[in-house]
Amino acid sequence: MRLRRLSPWAPVCALIALVCCAGADAAGPAIVVAGEPPGAPKDAAVAPAQEIQLPNKANSLKFAVIGDNGNGEQRQYDVAKQMAAWRARFAYELVLMMGDNIYGSERPQDFVQKFEEPYKPLLDAGVKFYASLGNHDAREQRYYKYYNMDGKLYYSFKAPKEDVRFFALESTYPEPQQIEWFRKELEGSNEKWKICFWHHPLYSSARTHGSETRLRATLEPLLIKNNVSLVLNGHDHVYERIKPQNGIAYFVVGSSGQLREGDLRKGSPLTAKGLDTDNAFMLMEIDGDDLTFVAIDRQGKVFDSGVIKRREPPK
Ligand SMILES: [Fe+2]
Repeated sequence: MRLRRLSPWAPVCALIALVCCAGADAAGPAIVVAGEPPGAPKDAAVAPAQEIQLPNKANSLKFAVIGDNGNGEQRQYDVAKQMAAWRARFAYELVLMMGDNIYGSERPQDFVQKFEEPYKPLLDAGVKFYASLGNHDAREQRYYKYYNMDGKLYYSFKAPKEDVRFFALESTYPEPQQIEWFRKELEGSNEKWKICFWHHPLYSSARTHGSETRLRATLEPLLIKNNVSLVLNGHDHVYERIKPQNGIAYFVVGSSGQLREGDLRKGSPLTAKGLDTDNAFMLMEIDGDDLTFVAIDRQGKVFDSGVIKRREPPK
């Protein structure tokens, strides 16, 4: 068990169907968010007709997804800048973190350089980050106030809007105790949408790590049985939308700071859409039974989008 000393600052400081998936090229045009005034971007003329737009409804749940972000490098800052720019027209209130939140040393100044500074506009706007821990993260990060983990390595919380519950796991050390907690937590959840996130992907076409098949054997039956609609992971430093597996949607979002260029296996039967040539983050919107998603690159351009229907509870 890898443990690090607690820093003194820490406490303070269905079938689901991917019914509609349209991917523009990574170099494609920026999406026009619904509700934005007309006046298309200059390259809209080449926008694919089927590209999905975020509904951007007033009372929907809007959130962002990042993973493997905390290297403090220019790429992280570039992605963070795009996150802030997008929030000006799509006011998401949460950010889910897939782990490897802080690479290297974890001194107070590292939390500033690798988290607080790049995401300052979001933090200043009251956006709440919810972290899971990756293999590079000290377990003590659970006490860091901006990660909203409330001192817990794994936790769940109800979304502030819509009928949604998020479940965050600690996948580096998935002891039986945690799995049992997860089973009970899923069984006790009545929310229509159950969305899970943790670091290690059950499905991944990346060469470096790939699918965590042992973890999959443990967790997948619980996901299927308990009507989970969506699973978000990181660890591999790419973006990958996995073809739905047993009715569940999976994404790898491990390139919001790190990037492992060319790491996706070409022609993998798992891949619905991938990007391993640039960094990425995601925006999601839940409105009733639909979840609309877009994946955005370091230039702020949408390169993947679609709509996910929530799974129906078993009859
Ligand atoms: Fe990792």
